[in-house]
Amino acid sequence: MSIVLETKDLSYIYSKGTSSQVDAIKDVCLKIEKGELVGIIGHTGSGKSTLIQHFNGLLKGTSGTVLLEGKDIWENKKEIKNVRFRVGICFQYPEYQLFEETVYKDIAYGPKNMKLSDEEIDKRVRNVIKFVGLDESYFDKSPFELSGGEKRRVAIAGVMAMEPEVLILDEPCAGLDPKGRDTILNLIREYQKKTGSTLLVVSHSMEDISKIATKVLVMNEAHLAFYDSVDNVFSHADELKSMGLNIPQLTELFIKLRKKGCNVPTNVYTLEKAKSEIIKLLKGGRA
Ligand SMILES: Nc1ncnc2c1ncn2[C@@H]1O[C@H](COP(=O)(O)OP(=O)(O)O)[C@@H](O)[C@H]1O
Ligand SMILES: [Mg+2]
Repeated sequence: MSIVLETKDLSYIYSKGTSSQVDAIKDVCLKIEKGELVGIIGHTGSGKSTLIQHFNGLLKGTSGTVLLEGKDIWENKKEIKNVRFRVGICFQYPEYQLFEETVYKDIAYGPKNMKLSDEEIDKRVRNVIKFVGLDESYFDKSPFELSGGEKRRVAIAGVMAMEPEVLILDEPCAGLDPKGRDTILNLIREYQKKTGSTLLVVSHSMEDISKIATKVLVMNEAHLAFYDSVDNVFSHADELKSMGLNIPQLTELFIKLRKKGCNVPTNVYTLEKAKSEIIKLLKGGRA
């Protein structure tokens, strides 16, 4: 597997040299392989949003480097615009970034900046609107007429229309009801399946992340705490809890069973796995 994004000893300090200086990320070393769907979790203020803004050069590390396909993104400053097309970020509450007078223009904004032909832009806009579960009747609407969930989908469509190699979504489900959340999670999963591109999804819900991610990255107080498979990360349930993270209910249940003396693993987070572990336990296989 080839590495798409790499950070070497990446640190970032806000308001450096002032009394309000903050070490937002510290010595982050990380290698992200192509095609992964990485869930980024961590307590509020742990450095998630700061970290991802380094991946497309919106922030430049106070020290350390970011490599995209093996190349330092700051090697040539003129290239940074290009990096922003290759690594697309959709911010938390992206609906506040909708500003054009129609949905069509909003989705077309990114591809237009990339100086694609009108024909190509049109093709992409028509594709993504369908992909996010809306249709062309939305094109002439003002983004401000839409529901919260629809606005979010239009904003995500705008970044998808740039067809970035790496798509980063910062808290895409924040503020949505359970149905809206599931719509977005399914959309993310489908997008990854269809395009095979690398996706980074920030969330503070481990439950959501466990449903979609292939790898989990955990930030804790500016440091990278874990970067591993979902299974391996969830096997550190007690440490995750000590970092203030809410682990999935199923995992919680298995930790309780284990504390009561049942011989079950503690990295259970899907119903299938829970079922097979309970059956094993009842058959006396593991006890
Ligand atoms: N623009 C900023 N100016 C100063 N400090 C900031 C700024 N943005 C974030 N921080 C601080 O940096 C740390 C990491 O924040 P952030 O990356 O937003 O974390 P997260 O996304 O995990 O909630 C926090 O202590 C936060 O208060
Ligand atoms: Mg954040």
